[in-house]
Amino acid sequence: MTENNFTHPLQEPGLSSRFIDPCILVIFGATGDLTARKLLPALYNLAREGQLPPQFACVGFARRDKTHEQFRAEMKEAISRFSRVKPVDEALWATFEKQLFYYKSEFHDEKGYQGLSQFLTDLDNKLGTKGNRVFYLSTQPSYFTTIAENLHKARLIYDQEIEKERWSRMIIEKPFGHDLKSAEALQKDLMQFLHEDQIYRIDHYLGKETVQNLLVLRFANSLFESLWNNRYIDHVQITVAEDIGIGSRGALWEESGFLRDILQNHMMQILSLIAMEPPVDLSAAAIHDEKVKAIKAIRPFDLSTLNDSVVRGQYGPGYINGESVIGYREEKNVNPASMVETYLAMRLYIDNWRWAGVPFYIRGGKRLPKKGTEISVFFKDPPSVLFQHPGRPNDPNVLTIRIQPDEGTSLKINCKVPGTSQLIQPVKMNFRYGKYFGMAPPEAYERLILDCILGDNTLFAREDEVFNSWKLLSPILDAWSEKGSSKDTFPNYPSGSWGPKAAEDLLLDGRKWRLL
Ligand SMILES: NC(=O)c1ccc[n+]([C@@H]2O[C@H](COP(=O)([O-])OP(=O)(O)OC[C@H]3O[C@@H](n4cnc5c(N)ncnc54)[C@H](OP(=O)(O)O)[C@@H]3O)[C@@H](O)[C@H]2O)c1
Repeated sequence: MTENNFTHPLQEPGLSSRFIDPCILVIFGATGDLTARKLLPALYNLAREGQLPPQFACVGFARRDKTHEQFRAEMKEAISRFSRVKPVDEALWATFEKQLFYYKSEFHDEKGYQGLSQFLTDLDNKLGTKGNRVFYLSTQPSYFTTIAENLHKARLIYDQEIEKERWSRMIIEKPFGHDLKSAEALQKDLMQFLHEDQIYRIDHYLGKETVQNLLVLRFANSLFESLWNNRYIDHVQITVAEDIGIGSRGALWEESGFLRDILQNHMMQILSLIAMEPPVDLSAAAIHDEKVKAIKAIRPFDLSTLNDSVVRGQYGPGYINGESVIGYREEKNVNPASMVETYLAMRLYIDNWRWAGVPFYIRGGKRLPKKGTEISVFFKDPPSVLFQHPGRPNDPNVLTIRIQPDEGTSLKINCKVPGTSQLIQPVKMNFRYGKYFGMAPPEAYERLILDCILGDNTLFAREDEVFNSWKLLSPILDAWSEKGSSKDTFPNYPSGSWGPKAAEDLLLDGRKWRLL
């Protein structure tokens, strides 16, 4: 990051300033759902908090006819619906909207990119944005290579070995490949036009405050880190539960399923942060290195007994919050005989010094009774010589990190019930972000867009994280797709239940899934 007349000190209370360069953010797919629901509200909130550089512009790229004014009006409407802070501040908006522009073209149209290049240069001259670019590909993955190639041809992606005065970076949305082979092929394609340092693979879970707090919780508290190993931890559970179904995403979900959509990216990222060794420092490279080592240490699944460690499911009709809902196979654009999973649970082991013998139980799905993402670390029981009541074992200590909703951390400990008896009851110490700090944490996209402008890729997935995660999980997909190999009959759990019965049997030695 260069410090010059144009860089802008970022206000971060309690920390020394970081400097942010002027730049233009170009959003490909700017009339889409993600732009309206997440990206523009994130930019607006960054502007509201004075975190964007004064010399900044956002250019929306899509194929519909639209004037700048129409685009601005639509984005204002989107921000007033989806921003975490409402209503829109009119004084701020008057300035912010002058930084929003629309550029109409087709992803495939080479000439359109030459026009875009000229348009961006004109904006540089007008606004002082200095040639720095973030290209946000809020599009289907099938367009990633086309867009990168056309940007390259229009000389909009700089060779950073040669160009030192200005930079260009690309944010790409998930999924990065649909298996190991396709992820490697996509990487190979993109490498023709970009350097790995210029690619920011977004995983919005990593932008969530509680996920970032995982490292602080582990490495800034001797209380936890000293116990964070197989001597004291009995097992770990990670749950990503949603009560909604697949909604209007039927066609997309038929191509993906739970493993590809959620497990391979969000859940593997969380797992690697829980399991990794302390990094040598807080640099992006050091953190990525440790995450990759943790993923590489996961024991490959034995495909001959896959059903003993992996359970998949698909929701049938049922009830959510007292209302009847249809099954997955009745959803729009879904094959009535579909074998795509909407639920997944697995038991896995990390074969390294720290975690040998500790089972990690992972589960998640659609149309479960409630929404909630959390990590629960179950500690081993103390020696059973004191405070034991026959037939009434004490509860284990459990540290729970709630990622969403109601972000926070709780710790379950055993406590004596007041009175003359020696009765023991579990109690919960509960920390809630919103209540303690008096504000809702910022949206993940705010942090991630800002980090990309700052050139910090710590909270983005590195190529080897993605590949090693696919290396572990692709064989499961292959096994499922082998004709006649599957004994699963779908649907196998009613909407509104906690998933297939077989998921209960994954937990060994009397362990149970935690009730959310
Ligand atoms: N929506 C979410 O909450 C969410 C969350 C996480 C990840 N994602 C990922 O983010 C990406 C975008 O999702 P989305 O929901 O925003 O998609 P979307 O609503 O379908 O929007 C697609 C956008 O791409 C544009 N587009 C499509 N084909 C084009 C072409 N040939 N030339 C120019 N523009 C074209 C469309 O422009 P026109 O309107 O002009 O046709 C529209 O702006 C997807 O990869 C998705 O998996 C989405």
